[in-house]
Amino acid sequence: MIDRPRGTRDFTPEANEFRYAAELALREVMDVFNYHEIRTPTFEHLELFTRKSGADIVKQLYTFKDKGDRDLAMRPELTAASMRFYFSDLKMRPKPLKIFYMGNCFRYERPQEGRYREFWQFGAELIGATGPLGNAEIVALAYKSLLSMGLDEFSLRMGDLRLMNNVMAHIGISEELKAYIKPLIDKGNLEGLREKLLEENIDEEKMQLLFSVIATKMAVGPFMSYANDLKERLSDIEGCEQAIDDILQTCQYLKMQDADEITIDLGIARGLDYYVGMVFEVDVEALGAEKQVCGGGEYSLASVFDEKDEVGASGFAIGFDRVILALQKQGMEYLPTTIDVYYVPLSEEALYESLLQMDELRTEGISCDLDLQRRGMSKNLKYGNHSNPTFIVFIGEDELKKGIVNVKESSTREQTEVPIKEVVEWIIERCMCDDEDMDSEE
Ligand code: HAM
Repeated sequence: MIDRPRGTRDFTPEANEFRYAAELALREVMDVFNYHEIRTPTFEHLELFTRKSGADIVKQLYTFKDKGDRDLAMRPELTAASMRFYFSDLKMRPKPLKIFYMGNCFRYERPQEGRYREFWQFGAELIGATGPLGNAEIVALAYKSLLSMGLDEFSLRMGDLRLMNNVMAHIGISEELKAYIKPLIDKGNLEGLREKLLEENIDEEKMQLLFSVIATKMAVGPFMSYANDLKERLSDIEGCEQAIDDILQTCQYLKMQDADEITIDLGIARGLDYYVGMVFEVDVEALGAEKQVCGGGEYSLASVFDEKDEVGASGFAIGFDRVILALQKQGMEYLPTTIDVYYVPLSEEALYESLLQMDELRTEGISCDLDLQRRGMSKNLKYGNHSNPTFIVFIGEDELKKGIVNVKESSTREQTEVPIKEVVEWIIERCMCDDEDMDSEE
């Protein structure tokens, strides 16, 4: 027996149908917001990920050398690849460019529920439209995407890294110290942060300035009243007033898109190094430790590609597997697989007739099947019933002679004799009616 690698999963057909329905809902949202899909390689040059984040990132990556001695890495996310693609092939397209992707990502992490070594991200990137209007679109898009999947309870927090970064620079926190404390801020470990700042001789007054930013966590309404106070407090620090005004303006645009039930959280630090402005995260408390289902914001990656022209970009990625877990915790269940028609041919000639009918039906988009092992009646039917057929068609010698088939409707158990020449049409008509009924129920 060979096990699957740690942190990876196999997906049953039922699980995949569930995931497919969720993915379709996301694709519909992308369509109505005019975002279009890109696809990039599963592995990239290692340098794509180390240039911005430094060699330390390698610990979290699946890296390997190929036969040409090139250093490669399985992608841990898709933003860097999206920007690589943008700078190499897409930058002449009209801007803003709106793209989305769904792909597997690989991170060498300690696996647990909701944290895998192979997982899927569904993400979107908006290139060439930052500022409040672009930012509001990205946040609204993430918000509507999660709603479309049927997630009932989630909380979206939005902040702006310019505040935290400018305050840190103002109070003399070095880049090195910043790299050390950002994860503490990210985890909300304010006690650990205080200890570290004391150890580094950052005085109390300066520390308070930083805490007044990172401890700000409130709904949009209260933030609107608090904003002036915060501006006053940070008035000596360049860029802070603009950042606060931008948050307020973004909230205004979010309100117009019915996506403003969010929290302003100025303590969001984000784990990846390329973020520069607005940032946001979405949590589902019911998921426990791995509760973050989405993260994103404004970022800068031009320097990775030695591009002089910076292009404003923002985006997000939904942790697809985590949302699926959340939906299941919420009570959404896998639906059993179904087919429209199951054929039970009782002779070789009946088998020929069944194959002919099945081909016509399949061409019309009607799903059908039969027992390829050609078992006797009871095992044959038992096998067919696993697929929950709407109709079961019995064709035997006698029926063939009379030019009829017997069609049983599973839900009513009613059996009807249908002339062989009409049966395909008969089934199509009924299956189409069923689809229309389902559509009107939805
Ligand atoms: P991220 O926060 O690193 O951001 O990942 C996005 C989401 O992927 C997380 O919120 C989480 O739900 C999911 N995720 C991350 N690691 C795992 C894992 N090991 N197992 C299961 N799910 C996981 C990014 O990757 C950015 N590229 C997002 C972005 C796009 N920013 C701008 N554009």
